[in-house]
Amino acid sequence: MAEVVIETSELVKLFGSRRAIDRVSLRVKTGEIYGLVGPSGAGKTTLIRMICGLLRPNAGKVTVLGHPVPKEFPTIEARIGYMPQEHAVYRDLTVAENLLFFGRIYGMSRQKIVTHGNELLALMHMDNLRDQRADRLSGGEKQRLSLACTLLHNPELLLLDEPTIGLDPALRIAFWEFFHSLNSTGHTILLTTHYLDEAERCDRVGMMKLGKLAADGTPEQLKALLSKDVVAPSMEQVFLHITQPPQRYGGGAK
Ligand SMILES: Nc1ncnc2c1ncn2[C@@H]1O[C@H](COP(=O)(O)OP(=O)(O)O)[C@@H](O)[C@H]1O
Ligand SMILES: [Mg+2]
Repeated sequence: MAEVVIETSELVKLFGSRRAIDRVSLRVKTGEIYGLVGPSGAGKTTLIRMICGLLRPNAGKVTVLGHPVPKEFPTIEARIGYMPQEHAVYRDLTVAENLLFFGRIYGMSRQKIVTHGNELLALMHMDNLRDQRADRLSGGEKQRLSLACTLLHNPELLLLDEPTIGLDPALRIAFWEFFHSLNSTGHTILLTTHYLDEAERCDRVGMMKLGKLAADGTPEQLKALLSKDVVAPSMEQVFLHITQPPQRYGGGAK
């Protein structure tokens, strides 16, 4: 298996005259959990959408699982699970029907969809909601369903755009236990988050600012960037240092 699962080089995406992605070179390795953080509008969603072939870059290259994207995306599509930022479930379908719909897209048999779907619903404590219409679910339940739909075809690479946003703390912890268990069975995960305690739980973290990958490394490596100026810097301090102008947080480190 290729050691690098996702590689972007000098990636650029323009929306009109705005550079939403500005020469981003990013590498995600097999088996890691890579977290993208950055203020709203920094370009996290745009970057993920280019990695899954939904947006064509203006310049630069994207390679996923050894294939150029978007050109050869259909070849690897079945190996990727993408959970978009907005709930990607059909409101007028039930939980079971949503799973059936997504499973069918990936050419799964009904029996496989039901078996694996039931396993996922049980893991997510949603087995009693199989026949509930999605528009009757709570926000957290919709998010769990969206994750279940993403995982149904057992993809090895997960691209999760703010998978835990708005979840209550217990559910957020449950999602992370789930991510770690997926990771321990060989899944590579690229996710975006606004929660810095989650960034701390990633193997490596990329910090985005104004379309640029302003810094990346392990949580320890990122903290070391501040360690000359701050004793035992926190991820919050690193985040503010990298992504905000000094006046927003009262200066501190250079
Ligand atoms: N389809 C689009 N058309 C025009 N501008 C867009 C579009 N999608 C994103 N943008 C702009 O690109 C920038 C990056 O957005 P986005 O990738 O959604 O950031 P993030 O996910 O980090 O919040 C923002 O300035 C946003 O307004
Ligand atoms: Mg976003």
